[in-house]
Amino acid sequence: MSVTVRVPAKVNVQLAVGAARPDGFHDLANVFLAVGLYDEVTVAPSPGGPRVTCEGPDADQVPLDRTNLAVRAAEALAARHGISPDVHLHITKDIPVAGGMAGGSADGAGALLACDALWGTNASRDELLDICAELGSDVPFSLVGGAALGTGRGEKLRALETGGTFHWVFAMAARGLSTPAVFREFDRLAQGLDIPEPIASEELLGALAEGDPDALAAAVSNDLQPAALSLFPELADTLAAGRSAGALAGLVSGSGPTTAFLARDPESALKVAETLRSSGTCRAVRLATAPAPGATVVSA
Ligand code: C5P
Repeated sequence: MSVTVRVPAKVNVQLAVGAARPDGFHDLANVFLAVGLYDEVTVAPSPGGPRVTCEGPDADQVPLDRTNLAVRAAEALAARHGISPDVHLHITKDIPVAGGMAGGSADGAGALLACDALWGTNASRDELLDICAELGSDVPFSLVGGAALGTGRGEKLRALETGGTFHWVFAMAARGLSTPAVFREFDRLAQGLDIPEPIASEELLGALAEGDPDALAAAVSNDLQPAALSLFPELADTLAAGRSAGALAGLVSGSGPTTAFLARDPESALKVAETLRSSGTCRAVRLATAPAPGATVVSA
């Protein structure tokens, strides 16, 4: 008996960051869009678990200890239901590791849904979302997918309407960036500045609802981008290459270093991807459409 769950990556079309809070986190207005690049998490009974394995091009960069969010998700669900987390978790990884696309969060949400089905714990949606929020700020969104506004540290979600399909190109960078390091750099760059309260852009929410790529491109923003560029200056070359190929917008995805390019249509996306591939400014290039569904059981 095994259960497989498929979980999407995300791009942040707006990431407005407030000043550091006393707990070290930052209040956000975080507009998440799930994109069609997926990890799969397969769970099966395994005495003495949890045990985790991983396959895929970046598998060697995935931690296989308790820092893996899939392991922590299985342990958290088991603890709440008074059972033993005797499970083997296998991750088929396609989302870039440490890329700013919520790959680790996807594995946490996927493991949670898969273990719930395997163990018959029948957790309610609210219980699953509570556990996701304990695991990390982006994990609740990985469970729900689609498009959503995240407030608080990003974990309080409001679903958003989307009026069409958006075409994206993603450029994977040669190395990863640590999310805490990027937030620390944000704090360093923000020293002495008056940081406004983060607020979602009405223009951006309207563009998503209309399915209008030109309006969305005009409204995208990422307050972490200067911090990511400060730690990884070569990303400016990748952004320039994608924009020069006709992308409507190019931005760092979340805390980076993956860069995301919004194209008007599939043909334009192919052209942007070609240019990026031959630019020598990135490790790999992927095309994906959005919105994508959240964590879904694909076989049981
Ligand atoms: O919630 P998560 O564990 O994914 O966050 C990783 C790190 O990112 C945190 O330890 C913190 O340094 C930073 N962070 C933040 N403010 C947020 C979300 C994350 O400072 N809203």
